[in-house]
Amino acid sequence: MDKIAVTGGVPLTGRIPVSGSKNACLPLMTAALLTDQTLTLTNVPDLADIGTLSTLLRSLGATTEHDAAGGRLDLRVARLSSPLAHYDIVRKMRASVLVLGPMLARDGAGTVSLPGGCAIGARPVDLHLKGLEAMGATLDLRDGYVHATVPRSVNGGRLRGVSYRFPFVSVGATENLLMAATLAKGTTRLVNAAREPEIADLAACLSAMGARIEGAGTSTIEIEGVDALSGAEHAVIADRIEMGSFMIAPAITGGDVVVEGGRLDLVSALAEALDAAGVSVEPVEGGLRVRRGGAGLNPVSLVTEPFPGYATDLQAQMMALMTLADGTSTITEQIFENRFMHVPELTRMGARIDVNGNTATVTGVPSLRGAPVMATDLRASISLILAGLAAQGETVVSRVYHLDRGYERIEQKLRACGARIERIRADD
Ligand code: UD1
Repeated sequence: MDKIAVTGGVPLTGRIPVSGSKNACLPLMTAALLTDQTLTLTNVPDLADIGTLSTLLRSLGATTEHDAAGGRLDLRVARLSSPLAHYDIVRKMRASVLVLGPMLARDGAGTVSLPGGCAIGARPVDLHLKGLEAMGATLDLRDGYVHATVPRSVNGGRLRGVSYRFPFVSVGATENLLMAATLAKGTTRLVNAAREPEIADLAACLSAMGARIEGAGTSTIEIEGVDALSGAEHAVIADRIEMGSFMIAPAITGGDVVVEGGRLDLVSALAEALDAAGVSVEPVEGGLRVRRGGAGLNPVSLVTEPFPGYATDLQAQMMALMTLADGTSTITEQIFENRFMHVPELTRMGARIDVNGNTATVTGVPSLRGAPVMATDLRASISLILAGLAAQGETVVSRVYHLDRGYERIEQKLRACGARIERIRADD
């Protein structure tokens, strides 16, 4: 397995481009299941998860054409040849469950393995399933699979529009039901829906395909079902998590970087936290300029929340930054249980962090030391890279396949700003 070696101590300066969003692209890809015409996505990031979902879609009957270098992906599902999302693929990536709503909407049947993904807590899919049931699907959980059908007694096998209130905010469940509702009979009202920018991006693509959607990006979304959707071309929104991670890179190294494609509206909670820490974030032509001069970092306390609150996917990175603050910060994780797996690894680098339930208390230290550490999930991995950029000496991060799921050309992008970072190939 590949490793990444980082020698810290260089303040990053220069420009880092932001890629298309992985979390937006995955649901957009599953939207191809809703039509027999071609869906073309551009600004597609070149990441392992995109390949995994393409494999899954091909197993369901899709033809895919991927120009990875050009960031273009053509998907066409002339017909759903096999509505079965197999465990071997689904276990690699939790977002695979997003094929269920579209399959049910298109053909009234779908079977999906219960998902895997990052090891950050139990992460059930009960909301996805309850919502689809409310729309008329019958579910049978057997042998680790969800077998879903829409009985002929329900609109001749077609999902029905409903008013559905999510008991709490779920990004994935909102996306699944939004897609299912586009082809349902009647109007669907999703209440307490997720407001993440990826939802609005998905709705924009579905609307280009002919769906009738109002309110995406707010907590109530209304969808009037149509009989069929067509193909479309859609550019994937910028990756706000990659953007935020790159904003923390100059903050932690005391550098000065323009994050190209950076947009304040996508990372406002992070920008506020950086401002409180004493890091300057300024919109400039084409992006966001982030810099920290010689001054120290103020401690900042934060709580993760659904958008527009502070993103859980940027929690580990902020913790890495706070390990070097002049004082004590608290970080409370409200979205996922068990999302502090980076803590023991940061501690190996000299950080002082105490975890009590879902709150970590971080007492700043003057410096971190490089160490061998292990990536445990996608966002933990980047926090270790960020810590390594600031640490004295060499940090070797193992299990970087987690990182490769979410960060495109990470070494090249950071190296272009002066980082001393190398990939050690498993076969070297
Ligand atoms: C998405 C993102 C992930 C991000 C998360 C929260 C993708 C591919 N992934 O994940 O990077 O960290 O949003 O911003 O977009 N839950 C249930 N039952 C459900 C669904 C969710 O209990 O049916 C719980 C989850 O365990 C979690 C919380 O709800 O505690 C939020 O999860 P959700 O918003 O659904 O996250 P994902 O869509 O999986």
